[in-house]
Amino acid sequence: MHPHLACFNAACRARFHIDDVLYNCPTCGGLLEAQYDFSATDPVALKRTWRERRMDNAPLSQSGVWRYRELFPFLENLSHVVTLREGNTPLLDAPRAAQYAGLSRVTFKHQGFNPTGSFKDNGMTCGAAQARSLGMKRVACVSTGNTSASMAAYASAGGLDPLIFIPHGNISYGKLAQALEYGAKTFQVEANFDQILALVRVLAERLGIYLLNSINPFRIEGQKSIVIEMLDQRDWRVPDWIVLPGGNLGNVSAFGKGLREMLQVGLIDKLPRLAVVQAAGSSPFYEYMQAKGLTPFRAQGHPETLATAIKIGDPVSWPKAQFEVETSQGTVERATEQEIADAKAIVGQCGIGCEPASAASLAGIRKLTAAGVIDRDADVVAILTGNVLKDPDYIYRYHTGQLQAPDGSPIQSTFGNKPILVANDTDRITELIGV
Ligand code: F0G
Repeated sequence: MHPHLACFNAACRARFHIDDVLYNCPTCGGLLEAQYDFSATDPVALKRTWRERRMDNAPLSQSGVWRYRELFPFLENLSHVVTLREGNTPLLDAPRAAQYAGLSRVTFKHQGFNPTGSFKDNGMTCGAAQARSLGMKRVACVSTGNTSASMAAYASAGGLDPLIFIPHGNISYGKLAQALEYGAKTFQVEANFDQILALVRVLAERLGIYLLNSINPFRIEGQKSIVIEMLDQRDWRVPDWIVLPGGNLGNVSAFGKGLREMLQVGLIDKLPRLAVVQAAGSSPFYEYMQAKGLTPFRAQGHPETLATAIKIGDPVSWPKAQFEVETSQGTVERATEQEIADAKAIVGQCGIGCEPASAASLAGIRKLTAAGVIDRDADVVAILTGNVLKDPDYIYRYHTGQLQAPDGSPIQSTFGNKPILVANDTDRITELIGV
């Protein structure tokens, strides 16, 4: 069986050529995924190969994504790969965060250490490689900021023209600045993420532009490497829980697929449970999963959260996300603006730092531990999806007591750390420092 695309819808499962330019199943409209034959894959040999590559200076071995390429063998010709040495992100112990969340221990897998500062790079290196392999010239995405920063970088590095569509006034300056600096033609559209995604799909069709949103199955393939690398770093010891923020729900879909495939190949012997955390003002998936199948999935027309990365009311990958959460016996939680802001400050106090959406992970763990869903002594890996410098404006406002929720209500600066304005006066400064 050659690598191919398959419809994710269990009632359809139509198959297509791996190089067909498709984002949805032409038969039923379902989501698509890449499928491979892993029946002859030897897990012991793979683990050895992957360790050896860490000592090899070849660019593909140095990439924390392509090092694991045997688990996403969709590309016939590896010369199409564009790598900025993505992945290679650390696992960090954070005792202060564990204590805050009510756990004896927590580990952060910090995807903010990526070349453009978010987990999107893991997927984008694969999406860009497929675009080049297909002979595409232009690539496009709609984004809450990180996808566009990543796509701009990988497209420009790989000689493709990046076209970016972002919701006007709703992404952080750090992310917009990256898109401009990496040379993307950038459209700030007066509509929300979900509306712009519909627009971009029409444009992609009309102009023959390759779409690199997370509906692109090759992005999902690359994001599997986040959990593969994490397990390699843990010598293949499976955690009890993996907790991550959810927006468009591509990442949880990638994690679930990667974990199931690792189990199938024999690289791991059980599945960790997946917990997805949404911002309370932008939580259609939480609402849907709470209803336990009694109501159909309903998009939110006006999602609101300061964690703009996950401000998405109509997440495209919800059917995959539902399947992965249920298969792993996982759960979905939501966190308020205050909970996200405080959890973020705690991640900062650990000397680690992250962007607002990422802190939903820790805020969610705290709630799930308090509710008894996550055991105090559980082995928990929390994903930090983006770098602390992505949204400095939010940080400054929080620490100076000026942060306001989207409805205008103040967010308490619970763990605030205000800068001190002072005259150039040694005695006064000595007094302020204390002896
Ligand atoms: N965290 C960060 C920092 C993100 O940028 C995103 C998504 C998520 C979490 C949620 O991941 O969509 O796979 O559930 N950002 C996208 C973007 C939507 O356009 O950059 P998801």
